[in-house]
Amino acid sequence: AAAGDHQAETATISQGTVATNHSGYTGSGFVDYTNVTGSYVEFTVSADAASGTSLALRYANGTGADRPMDLSIGGKVVAAGVSFPPTANWTTWATKTITADLTAGANKIRATATTSAGGPNLDKLTV
Ligand code: GCU
Ligand code: CA
Repeated sequence: AAAGDHQAETATISQGTVATNHSGYTGSGFVDYTNVTGSYVEFTVSADAASGTSLALRYANGTGADRPMDLSIGGKVVAAGVSFPPTANWTTWATKTITADLTAGANKIRATATTSAGGPNLDKLTV
């Protein structure tokens, strides 16, 4: 895996399961968010203090509707209602990138579903 890859399937998962039923994921699987508001995946990323760091989330959304999520770091929302639009089918993966400031040490980067549909299928975070 590329440096800076953090697999969703080894992150902390709340209301989601590790799955392998759609091809094209990296690592050993992806996270299938439960279809509820508040389901999340939290990555612990060790970093030096860095502003404007790119956070790239690789996902699939085989539905016809957006699956927005809030992105937080250390409990503080840094990007609200980030759009994860449809990717045509569950085996088509796309990347959504935001920029945020990291602090020195462990950064708890969480992606939380904001609608009752839950999040998209999530493969990894690249920092
Ligand atoms: C299907 C699909 C899952 C997906 C789910 C959803 O069940 O197989 O991978 O997570 O739909 O709509 O969230
Ligand atoms: Ca799901």
